[in-house]
Amino acid sequence: MKKIIIIGITLLCLVGGFILYKHNNSKPIDPPSNNVNNEPSEPSIYDSYNDDEIKYLNELMGLKYYDESKIDRYLNYMENDKYSYEQIIRIVNTNNDLEYFKDAVPANVDDDILILVNKYNVLPEDYVPFDLKKVNTNYSYWGELRGEAADAFLTMVTAASKEGLKIINTSPYRSYDLQSRLYNNYVKDDGVKAADKYSARPGFSEHQTGLSTDVVTPTSTLNTFKNTKEFTWMQENSYKYGFILRYGKDMEYITGYNYEPWHYRYVGIEAAKTIYENDLTFEEYYYYYVKGKV
Ligand code: DAL
Ligand code: ZN
Repeated sequence: MKKIIIIGITLLCLVGGFILYKHNNSKPIDPPSNNVNNEPSEPSIYDSYNDDEIKYLNELMGLKYYDESKIDRYLNYMENDKYSYEQIIRIVNTNNDLEYFKDAVPANVDDDILILVNKYNVLPEDYVPFDLKKVNTNYSYWGELRGEAADAFLTMVTAASKEGLKIINTSPYRSYDLQSRLYNNYVKDDGVKAADKYSARPGFSEHQTGLSTDVVTPTSTLNTFKNTKEFTWMQENSYKYGFILRYGKDMEYITGYNYEPWHYRYVGIEAAKTIYENDLTFEEYYYYYVKGKV
């Protein structure tokens, strides 16, 4: 009998301890108090925020990827009525609260196939990938990709062809000069504001990495590619070969560009799988996994 009581008490202590532990670890931050009991309290980084700010931060901190080091930047979005809490975290964590182009830093070419090039990460004018390789002409109208990407592209489109589909590379590596000419023409036609939504400025284009390709079918254009069976196949399968749809639907606030169903970026199979399974943009993958924030 004594034994049963001891076991009972031990179990109760264990369960109680666990409940207390869980409670303490999910506890939201308290609003700053005047410490009426004069108890010594540990200084907290939250002490300098007012009740409204604390309430707002409490909403954000329950979300995945909340980053305490970015509190002040999250707070800049406190009054906004355009973005959800989750979107605010995504914006700030990917630096989209900074100014396009002006706040850009040099893209880190050492990241190799995981290099991030966007409106905040710019390539030098003279950057040319060292291992460009012609894309197999059965599946390409012209041009080159980095060796690994060219090989993966061929494996991918060969697999699609076995299902009766034809995916063709129509714009792979583009030099700084070619991107300049394209961008300047778009600006002439549509003005800077519109052009910036669908064309990268020279140095800011992922095509200069040799890791991106725009694809079509024999009967589609870039714009009609989204209506093809090949597009559906790419949505379901491209990650298995290391390619991701780079500029997703409704993701402009993170990627900086309109939806581009035709633009695929090679990142390798492991990264592509993680991006696909977690529904991430490449920007998020880069800051969380390549830079190691998770
Ligand atoms: N259309 C993509 C954003 C580029 O110009 O690189
Ligand atoms: Zn493209």
